[in-house]
Amino acid sequence: MNILMVTSEAYPYAKSGGLADVIPNLAQELASLGHSVKIVMPRYYGITRDLLEKHPAPLGIPMGSTELWAGVFHTHIPETSVEVYFIEHEELYGRDGIYGDSQVPVYPDNAKRFAVLCRASFQLCKLLQWFPDIIHGHDWTAGPAMAYLKTIESAGPFRHTRGVFTIHNIGYQGIFPPEDFPQLGLSPEDFTRRGFSYHNNMCYLQAGLVNADLVTTVSPGYAQEVLEPELGFGMDGILRKKGTYFQGILNGMDYNIWNPGHDQLIPYPYDFRTLENKGLNKNLIQEEAGLPISAKTPLIGIVSRLVTQKGFKTMVEEDGRVLREICNLPAQVLVLGTGEPWIEKALVALADEIPNLRVYIRYNEKMSHLIQAASDFFLMPSLYEPCGLTQMYALRYGTVPIVSPTGGLKDTVVDVPQNPTTLSDQDQEATGFYLPEPLTAQGMIDGIQRAIGYYTSNPAMIREMQIRGMKLRFDWKAAAREYLDFYTLA
Ligand code: ADP
Ligand code: GLC
Repeated sequence: MNILMVTSEAYPYAKSGGLADVIPNLAQELASLGHSVKIVMPRYYGITRDLLEKHPAPLGIPMGSTELWAGVFHTHIPETSVEVYFIEHEELYGRDGIYGDSQVPVYPDNAKRFAVLCRASFQLCKLLQWFPDIIHGHDWTAGPAMAYLKTIESAGPFRHTRGVFTIHNIGYQGIFPPEDFPQLGLSPEDFTRRGFSYHNNMCYLQAGLVNADLVTTVSPGYAQEVLEPELGFGMDGILRKKGTYFQGILNGMDYNIWNPGHDQLIPYPYDFRTLENKGLNKNLIQEEAGLPISAKTPLIGIVSRLVTQKGFKTMVEEDGRVLREICNLPAQVLVLGTGEPWIEKALVALADEIPNLRVYIRYNEKMSHLIQAASDFFLMPSLYEPCGLTQMYALRYGTVPIVSPTGGLKDTVVDVPQNPTTLSDQDQEATGFYLPEPLTAQGMIDGIQRAIGYYTSNPAMIREMQIRGMKLRFDWKAAAREYLDFYTLA
């Protein structure tokens, strides 16, 4: 099968979150199962040309009455047959950020930037004379691709191509003023007929869902949740109508990049037989962070986009009560992230006051590995979580996750029974701790206290949980096979 992935992010070229991690992994596994896979994305300013090859011909991209001209660069993912194509257009993509940057949090021309990416995907295939059986679009930025497939490109070389759309996060919808629609180059009726029209606005995500032949999301749990109004964010009705053409497929994780035994980014590698080395990483990070060096004080790590979805409102409200009480237990808390300015500010202010709290407002791969390696617990109090990769990384690093029981978190972490008298059976499976639902400040304190209670009183149980987590595998090969099975429904 020929498969084209349309995406705004892919690691290591451009990344804001888990979507970037997913794309190369899924592409690679599909390729290793014998399929021809290409990825198309913008060439943002930060993706240096030096490592890429330039396609000799420029790419003409008709957008209604105008035609844009773009450059095409390409490379392949090392040791695989997966080719990555970058669309270069100085005016649209020659900037630092993916969706925005520190100066302009959301670029005002994002509707155009990603419509052009979608249109360019088809033009690229024509240029290469390579036509996909499946165009697989990811998140709202790829929504228009599904609409082009059913309109402008429905006859001709794409007539047998099917559209598959994956929701990585239904909360990000690509909502724009309707005045932006004409620049897509579709006919005016397509605004409603093709699912762009949404409460007097234009919605790329909805257009993606309406026009895709098949829709997936990134965990079975989340696939259930988005069928209900509470977490469906207005899309639940459309998804319910999809019936069996909508499915949740759990992401895998990259066990080469995230392997505590061979991780170049951590000073003391370890595996489940040498867990004492994990403690050396903890001592080192405590020292570097200027925290008391103590093996006994539990260290709680957070690596996250600092956005409301991830539960930060509860963490900082009431003058940071949760963090104050947790650090008083005592425990130490390390936060690494960037995101909404009000959350960044609130966390930095709390770190000034709370002795055991350190907050690093930055994006840093190395630190993210070190925090995973050094921490005893990994905290993820998400309000909703489509899949979540960082809890999987935590499990692999023997860092016991404390999570909200939602979406992919519930699918990947098994709770210690709430009632310790029933510890026997489920205890054999437990890999982490669930926070009480719905998320409240008191619930978070209680949930974290519960985990720390076991850490202090039952270290043997915590060690078993660590080892169990480290041995788990969230396998991309299995996920790729599920995608292939699902593609055949189209
Ligand atoms: P989401 O996609 O919602 O952000 P995931 O858990 O799926 O959540 O993926 C987040 C990814 O981004 C992980 O690879 C995580 O390590 C990474 N990440 C998030 N914030 C940072 C940061 N500040 N520095 C380094 N990596 C980060
Ligand atoms: C989204 C979700 C996250 C998921 C990631 C990769 O960003 O928020 O839960 O793991 O996509 O699918």
